[in-house]
Amino acid sequence: MSSSDSERVTQEKLGLPGDPFAMVIFGAGGDLTKRKLMPALYNLYQGKLLPGEFAIIGISIESYSDDEFRQYMTKDIAEYSEKSVDLSLWEEFVKHLYYLRGDFNDADLFAKLGETLVRLEKEAGTAGNVLFYLATAPSFFPVVVNHLGAAGLAKEENGRWKRVVIEKPFGHDLASAIDLNHQLRQVLEEKQIYRIDHYLGKETVQNILAFRFANGIIEPVWNRRYVDHVQVTVAEELGVEMRGSYYETAGALRDMVPNHIFQLITLTAMEPPISFDADSVHDEQTKVLRAIQILTPERVLDQAVRGQYDAGTINGKHVPAYRSEPNVSPESNTPTFVAMALHIDNWRWAGVPFYLRTGKRMQKRVTQVVIRYRRPPFVLFRKTSVDKLAPNEFVLNIQPNEGICLSFEAKVPGPVVRLGAVNMDFQYSDYFGTKPSTGYETLLYDCLMGDPTLFQRADMVEAAWTVVQPILDVWKALPPRDFPNYPAGSWGPAQADELLRRDGHEWRDLTCFPDHPARPVGPAKEVSAPTKP
Ligand code: BG6
Repeated sequence: MSSSDSERVTQEKLGLPGDPFAMVIFGAGGDLTKRKLMPALYNLYQGKLLPGEFAIIGISIESYSDDEFRQYMTKDIAEYSEKSVDLSLWEEFVKHLYYLRGDFNDADLFAKLGETLVRLEKEAGTAGNVLFYLATAPSFFPVVVNHLGAAGLAKEENGRWKRVVIEKPFGHDLASAIDLNHQLRQVLEEKQIYRIDHYLGKETVQNILAFRFANGIIEPVWNRRYVDHVQVTVAEELGVEMRGSYYETAGALRDMVPNHIFQLITLTAMEPPISFDADSVHDEQTKVLRAIQILTPERVLDQAVRGQYDAGTINGKHVPAYRSEPNVSPESNTPTFVAMALHIDNWRWAGVPFYLRTGKRMQKRVTQVVIRYRRPPFVLFRKTSVDKLAPNEFVLNIQPNEGICLSFEAKVPGPVVRLGAVNMDFQYSDYFGTKPSTGYETLLYDCLMGDPTLFQRADMVEAAWTVVQPILDVWKALPPRDFPNYPAGSWGPAQADELLRRDGHEWRDLTCFPDHPARPVGPAKEVSAPTKP
């Protein structure tokens, strides 16, 4: 570790601001900038986590002056910020915003950007450090990076850092992801590339590591000896909204699985890394991805389920079918739901299925990881009216009710033995008095500090696409015949239930989540003879 690395780690641990910088947002006219980046940057500013000298330069095709861009960002900040905005502080913050109009294909834009960066280095004291944020359509990722290279803007020299954040989706299949990595590396070193996955910015996702590795009682029971299977659910109430044209080219599999869901799976399944150093963590995550059994075409048909929502009712409101959404073909075969069973072939997990499902327009917004344990031997209860013992479960609630829940059987007080299923429930908001942030604050801060731990390394991205590719291939070759196959407001198509049922399992019932997270006490069960407490 170099001395500047260790300085950075110390500043980060202390929650101090890093170096002066300029941040260039390509695609600043888009939703991401207004909804996520600006509120997150403002929150960092408010939390004194940005240095005194910085400049944020928005670039997009619309014509704005610096002032108009500042007003445009000001218009909706109160709506998009999850915390209250101090308007006088916001006024101070927006003075750091600048704007350039331009076409990403045009070399002149990058010449102008170069001049602006030199000017702001003097005027705003940015010290020549630049964070380029590509909030653009994916087709522009290589275009912008090539122009940055050609204009000499991506070169790190004299201690000035240059970092590039790439939004998802990173490629649309294995070949395009490999190709994109190759193109980026013509201009950038791997350490300059920050492939973002906003799930890694969520506190509850990061907490999976803390929960597993900071608690002596968890890790010994986190393996195939005790765990029966794992369920990962990422359910959304929202449909595709105005993103039809993007979603038509992506679908649920590309949109959610090789990125967000695989982050949840790798953090849940990985071996303990030897440190929080980026490479140590990424090495272990990549090993998990590489240990996932690649599905043959036959097994794709058997172990992967796709669905598309029809019209239905959510929270008492009628919502249209996917095929009636704006910018969606009325004959679209794009899946809005995916479920599958994966197997991780390593010493810790062999034989433990990992079931995952994600869908739009589901009954409730819930993201959770369920670790379901094997049932204990039943012998003690044979001569009683207890017919079966409920398996223990650890439920990691990622959102919206962030927390962790352990369910177990307990004796209901009284002279006879009766069993009830109870939940020990930890909620972030109860214990830490605050709801975790959406995560862009953490991710932007880490980029500015030069800490890539929460970003994806090239080999992780490729390993993830390797798992997904056979499913894409089979589904492309065999278009679905039954779409739409689930009503909006349900838990997806019946085949997703069947996927677990034939293994003797069922999806955890989420109907009561998050309003009543505790499971109801189970039916009273009596043994034949009363026992002393
Ligand atoms: C995005 C997907 O990456 O994640 C969206 O493109 C999805 O389709 C979103 O809705 C879900 O994020 P979150 O933070 O709301 O779970």
